[in-house]
Parts: sequence; C-alpha cells; structure tokens
Amino acid sequence: MIEDGATDRGSVTTVRRVGETIRRPVGGWTPAVHALLTHLESVGFTRAPRVLGTDGTEEMLSLLHGEPALSPWPPPLRSTAGIGELGSWLRDYHDAVRDFRPPADARWQGQEVEWRPGLVIRHGDLGPWNSIWDGDRLAGFIDWDFAAPGHPIDDLAQLAWYAVPLRPVEQQRRAGVTGERTLRSRLDALCAAYGAPAAAVLDALDDLQSREAARIERLGRRGHEPWATFLARGDAAEMAAERAWLRSERAAFLGGSGG
Ligand SMILES: Nc1ncnc2c1ncn2[C@@H]1O[C@H](COP(=O)(O)OP(=O)(O)OP(=O)(O)O)[C@@H](O)[C@H]1O
Ligand SMILES: [Mg+2]
Repeated sequence: MIEDGATDRGSVTTVRRVGETIRRPVGGWTPAVHALLTHLESVGFTRAPRVLGTDGTEEMLSLLHGEPALSPWPPPLRSTAGIGELGSWLRDYHDAVRDFRPPADARWQGQEVEWRPGLVIRHGDLGPWNSIWDGDRLAGFIDWDFAAPGHPIDDLAQLAWYAVPLRPVEQQRRAGVTGERTLRSRLDALCAAYGAPAAAVLDALDDLQSREAARIERLGRRGHEPWATFLARGDAAEMAAERAWLRSERAAFLGGSGG
C-alpha cells in the first residue's frame, strides 16, 4: 500500500497519500467523476473511493486499504475465486450505476459518445493495476479518471482482456497466468460471476480493441495527453497485434459450445 506521506508517480497521474486520504490532480473530467462517485456512495456501493473534497488543484479521495495487483500478479488474482471476485464486483458496480444520470454538462476524459438511456458510465480502465486487494478480498477499483459513457459489456470485455488475461504469451508470462485451458476457465469464471456469455464478451472485446487503438491514433496525433504518450510508446500497434492474436485464438476460448 502507498505509505503515508509518500508520492506515487503512476504512468499517468502523480498521487500522494496524506493519512487516510489520497490526493490526485484534478482535470476537466473531475466534476463528472465526482458526481459518479458520490452517486455510488449514496446507493451504498463501498468498493470505490469516496470523494472527500477538492481545492481546485487536487481532489481528495478516501484510501482503499490493500495492494494494487501489479505483475507478477498476487495469488488471489491468479486464483479462480479471484477472477470471480472481479466479475461480482463488476456486476455490483453496474447494478449501482444503472440509475445514475450524469449531469447535463458532464465532461468525461476521452469521451466518445453522449450518455443516453441504455448506456452506463463505464469505469474505463479496468485492469489489475487499478484493483486493490486486501488479502483475498477485492477492496475495489481506484482511478476513475477514464470513466465515460458506454455499453456495460465493454467494461466486462476490458476486464476479460486485462485480467483473464486474454493476451499473448508474453503478457501471460508477465502476469504469471499461462495456458489456454487456464485462460478459458478463467474467462468462464469471470463471465459466470458477472452473468454474460463468453461469446458476447469476445465480440465486444474485438470491437473495443479496435476502437481503443483508433482513439489512441486520433487523439495521440493531435497531441492530446495521455494518448500522445500511449501512441509514442506503441500502444496502438500493440493493441492491433493483440486483437489479431485474440481472433486467432477465439475458437480455443469458446470451445465446441460456441460460448
Ligand atoms: N483511492 C486509493 N486508495 C488506495 N490507493 C490508491 C488510491 N488511489 C491511488 N492509489 C495508489 O496510487 C497509485 C497510483 O494511482 P492511480 O492509479 O490513480 O494513478 P495512475 O497514474 O493511473 O497509476 P497507474 O498508471 O499505475 O495505474 C495506485 O497504484 C495506488 O497504489
Ligand atoms: Mg491507475
């Protein structure tokens, strides 16, 4: 866990811990994100940070107790129970966010579509690096800066991509989770815990990978951060390669059942 008084220079944000609070720089999207987090608190969803205030430069959030799941992943995330925890968390989150109506003037970072009925506000950055684990228990997800309107299944697809992981061997090795059978059973456990068919998740992921790569190209070329950094470090090309890999593996992940 980030130590009291320490500063964490993440890949995008510089974060400070002060006592039981986290201080992060604000952006144009912060009022919208705070409306979202305040809604979650009001409906009793506790596995996300609470908003404690802002001074116009920094936001103050509650600290989630535990450790982020960095590579190689901790045992809870590598277990079937752990991937199930992620699916249950997302089910609870979508149940909690369903009735949230974003403020009319909401500005989300990298927003692609306006909210309309049938869409939710997605977390938008659902990878292990933003999950906080307190032993075997998932304390919640942090880092809501990429929250934006979208289809709920895109959140599940992103979680499957990064946390199963549905990624080539090199990334599997880095995580410490390898092998087609293992990945397939993890995908099934995630989908069962959330309540969605694996085939639909793979379809959504194929689409998501293509949209995310295109967004990095589009916003990155215009010099918008953090996409310019993502483009410069090769993320768009990597996503295209991962998409091609997943297409070639699709049948193996769905087996004879077709999902
Ligand atoms: N609400 C919180 N509760 C507990 N720890 C937090 C919280 N917010 C941030 N942290 C800590 O600060 C680190 C970086 O935070 P954050 O994810 O918000 O920034 P980031 O730039 O996106 O980092 P990264 O690219 O590593 O995800 C986290 O890995 C975590 O250790
Ligand atoms: Mg983060």
